[in-house]
Amino acid sequence: PILTCGPESLRPAVATGEVILPMGSPTNAAADWSDEALIYVNGVRRLLPDGLAHLTLLRYLRDIGLRGTKLGCGEGGCGACTVMVSCYDQSTKKSQHFAINACLAPLYSLEGMHIITVEGIGNCRRGLHPVQERLAEAHGSQCGFCTPGFVMSMYALLRSSKQPPTKEQIEDSLAGNLCRCTGYRPIIDAFGVFAKTDDSLYTASPSESANGKAICPSTGKPCLCRNETDVNGNESSLLSSVKTYLPSSYNEIDGNAYNEKELIFPPELQLRKIMPLRLNGFNGVRWYRPLKLDQLLQLKSCYPEAKLIIGNSEVGVETEFKNAQYGVMISVTHVPELHTLKVEEDGLRIGSAVRLAQLQDFLKKVIAERGSLQTSSCQAILRQLKWFAGTQIRNVASVGGNICTASPISDLNPLWMSTGATFQIIDVNNNVRTTVAKDFFLGYRKVDLKDDEVLLSVILPWTRPFEYVKEFKQAHRRQDDIALVNAGMRVHITEAEGNWIVSDVSIVYGGVAAVPLTAGKTESFLVGKKLDYGLLDEAFNLLKEDIPLAENAPGGMVEFRSSLTLSFFFKFFLYVTHEMNTKGLSEGLDVANMSAIQSYTRPVTTGTQGYELVRQGTAVGQPMVHLSAMLQLPNFPLGSLVSSSQKMCPVLTILGQLDSSKKRILGQLSMMGRFLHLMSLLVLARSLESLWQTPMIMQKLLQIK
Ligand SMILES: Cc1cc2nc3c(=O)[nH]c(=O)nc-3n(C[C@H](O)[C@H](O)[C@H](O)COP(=O)(O)OP(=O)(O)OC[C@H]3O[C@@H](n4cnc5c(N)ncnc54)[C@H](O)[C@@H]3O)c2cc1C
Ligand code: FES
Ligand code: FES
Repeated sequence: PILTCGPESLRPAVATGEVILPMGSPTNAAADWSDEALIYVNGVRRLLPDGLAHLTLLRYLRDIGLRGTKLGCGEGGCGACTVMVSCYDQSTKKSQHFAINACLAPLYSLEGMHIITVEGIGNCRRGLHPVQERLAEAHGSQCGFCTPGFVMSMYALLRSSKQPPTKEQIEDSLAGNLCRCTGYRPIIDAFGVFAKTDDSLYTASPSESANGKAICPSTGKPCLCRNETDVNGNESSLLSSVKTYLPSSYNEIDGNAYNEKELIFPPELQLRKIMPLRLNGFNGVRWYRPLKLDQLLQLKSCYPEAKLIIGNSEVGVETEFKNAQYGVMISVTHVPELHTLKVEEDGLRIGSAVRLAQLQDFLKKVIAERGSLQTSSCQAILRQLKWFAGTQIRNVASVGGNICTASPISDLNPLWMSTGATFQIIDVNNNVRTTVAKDFFLGYRKVDLKDDEVLLSVILPWTRPFEYVKEFKQAHRRQDDIALVNAGMRVHITEAEGNWIVSDVSIVYGGVAAVPLTAGKTESFLVGKKLDYGLLDEAFNLLKEDIPLAENAPGGMVEFRSSLTLSFFFKFFLYVTHEMNTKGLSEGLDVANMSAIQSYTRPVTTGTQGYELVRQGTAVGQPMVHLSAMLQLPNFPLGSLVSSSQKMCPVLTILGQLDSSKKRILGQLSMMGRFLHLMSLLVLARSLESLWQTPMIMQKLLQIK
């Protein structure tokens, strides 16, 4: 539809919350904008009413009673709110599944999608999903707060993987989930059984090693847990004083109890025509979802101050924690022109709304197809993305969102600048201009983008022979943390009169000032020189001038961060020297320096836990699965208060008085849950004399559906 704006005089009403809808021209084209938002949650159709544009998915889920999904940090950092989202790709005719943080996802951004929460995959009554069962049995939950999030991250990985994931992929997929209790080892152990190892170990009868011990399919090592160290209490194990608990094998998680089929993508959503959306929220918030670039540009010309939203990982934090308020929000996730991913003659064209996880997949493909020569920049960006936030954030956060936020600690902006990337910008009159990334960042979170402009795409040039690009990031911890200092560096070396000299170099640091800083003096010094150790002292001195960090610089740790700027450059020098050496064009590196040129890779975690197996009663000294583990996984309600109008009321009477909502809660509980409920009822009713009625009470409890 062609949109024209409401009269100028009506604009201020935006702030007051009065609803002004874009008016059609010449007829009522606004009628083509739908206010019907449909999602599915755990296979159940849910038509969302208008007026919820201010809500996150998490608040909505909890409001409709699905409280397994937890609110932890509320800003994408802990993963307690992880759910799986499925959407249908019309071009490939396939559904895609990915984990997201529900705390940051605007509710209407899920329109047309299927959301699966921890309640949707299994529970104690219908049977736990193998992922849940495994976590409980391997002692992967203690307080249980983080547990649904871990379960959903693992579930989404399994649903989205064509092959069984590797252990490394499993650990990567959990980078966005925090646990305060377990120390992670049992969680990693628990999920390790879903990793691909050797198929034959799972299909054949228990493998035996040369000395007759069974081999654990998970670890590939002698499976002590299934021989003499049976942790579940066989007599043989109790004879030893100290034994090691090893992960149990896949075979022990047969999923027998799990009788649900996996939820499929709802056919209705597959067949449904996607419409541009126009919805409202509290306090006059307006939410638009255009489907075409034209529609987006017309909305932008009506509402220049409108906030574009893609992953909401920046805007969500601003609105939730920094009191930012945006009256008009335009979700551009469905504008195809912003989703370009193209291999072109001069480089890659990357649409601004491309999600970081999509970019990772695309870069992997391009690197595999083109080889290393032209793709040094692609490789550096891919390596940097590995340490960019967690999986849930990368699944929604966009390239354009990162660029336009212009955060001083953006991990990608120094790389766009050093690789010589250019940005294409379109205005509301369809004029396209191009700017080099180096000129785009003007000040603290300020970019060269006018109100009537939108970032269209990024062009990442191919690298030439003897052109090397490298990324750097140092944070407090490796995974899912923001940088203390980061950098992107590129050098092009060419032959001149028999010497290999620097013909072009770009060194850009992030996290050291309000904008990414270019080390201009160092660059000028290096051009025309042969890259060797003799240059280093002078280069370091110039770097200190280029990247000054005042004693009171925001972010603190000034000495450490200053030393990082030098060590990044030193590592870059070593890397390039080594690359040239492999071609016989430079002297070799000192062995002591070789480790500095390797990009950091975290080895797969290993760990065991020792238990002193001394029988004292039935449980002490043995690793027992705690009673609430099974209940924590789908996060079943353990109890709820019931009040009675009668003093000293017998429990049976209370049960008779339960209203339908309380019955529904009880109906969802396992027998264990119902029993605990009964105990609390007894205490509540202070009618211990009614204990003799327990069989009748249990019968009544059982009958509740
Ligand atoms: C837990 C967590 C971890 C994070 N970790 C990292 C990290 O390791 N490294 C890092 O660099 N960042 C990190 N971030 C920051 C953030 O994830 C990124 O900046 C992300 O790329 C933003 O993308 P988005 O789609 O979510 O942006 P949104 O929040 O949707 O939008 C951000 C801004 O960009 C504007 N915008 C978006 N697209 C356009 C366009 N086409 N034209 C004009 N303006 C546009 C929007 O209007 C808005 O102002 C993290 C954030 C969180 C919450
Ligand atoms: S609540 Fe912490 S990531 Fe959502
Ligand atoms: S936070 Fe992970 S079990 Fe308590």
